[in-house]
Amino acid sequence: MLTLKTSSEFLQWRALVSPLESIGLVPTMGALHEGHLSLIRQSIKDCDLSCVSIFINPLQFGVNEDLESYPQDIVGDLKKLKDIGVDVVFIPHTNDIYNNDDSLLIVENNLSRKLEGKSRPTFFSGVLTIVSKLLNLVRPDFAYFGMKDAQQLIIIQKMVKEMKYPVQIVPCETVREHNGLAMSSRNEYLNKEQRENAKIIYLSLLHARELINNGETNPSIIKAAIKDMVLSETTLTLDYISIAERETLVEITDDVKTNNKTLISIAVFLNGVRLIDNVYI
Ligand code: PAJ
Repeated sequence: MLTLKTSSEFLQWRALVSPLESIGLVPTMGALHEGHLSLIRQSIKDCDLSCVSIFINPLQFGVNEDLESYPQDIVGDLKKLKDIGVDVVFIPHTNDIYNNDDSLLIVENNLSRKLEGKSRPTFFSGVLTIVSKLLNLVRPDFAYFGMKDAQQLIIIQKMVKEMKYPVQIVPCETVREHNGLAMSSRNEYLNKEQRENAKIIYLSLLHARELINNGETNPSIIKAAIKDMVLSETTLTLDYISIAERETLVEITDDVKTNNKTLISIAVFLNGVRLIDNVYI
């Protein structure tokens, strides 16, 4: 496994790759868990060469967010990547990526303002800017993103389509703990008991899906059921519950249909840690 630490090193490697070899890219911020590894396994299955980037992207953190304390485990990450059979790990320094200048941004002004965007107004421009830079550097044939971050996935798909990047975005299923909690690097902030309490998030989404499958169509009733269930766990507070059209993220105000076009998403706080999850209906 090659570990490359600068863009110029990376470009030197990239120049030697034959056009006949396919490249898969898995962008991450490290502290790798099974969720990340499932994306990487998919890339290894699909592509001749798989590249994983590890970069804690300061641009996607708000001023009061956890940039300084974001979980890091570079030694553990490199071991996991080597064991799994990754070809190249790219671990750039912030100055290499932003050249001490973060004034050039990729901004999406519609989907980015909804759901997560309401609480995290600069988050998606940070994500799009780094993903765009990585796509330009790596020039992958396939890039892998988790459905756990459904809105991020949708907005990246939009950027790729609108900017005509020659890459295929591959969505990957959410990987969960045994109790259903979606895996996340930020789960490291939670102790065992808190992780157990947090299982109610996914259970409430499953309950909503069951209500819909049993004929409930009223979004207010479904949201109220999710809310009741989540808040029955008194250590949780709600940021939002959304039932939206999965491509436009427009809130559904009339009947919720079981037509595979609905995304139910939720964001909660547990002891100051923000957790998100979603299910497709
Ligand atoms: P990070 O949170 O490290 O996640 C990297 C990738 O792993 C993302 O595509 C994310 O959706 C996926 N992922 C995380 N948890 C997952 C889970 N439980 N199941 C399946 N996939 C999961 O998302 C980011 O980093 C950053 O925003 C990034 C795209 C790297 C840009 O900086």
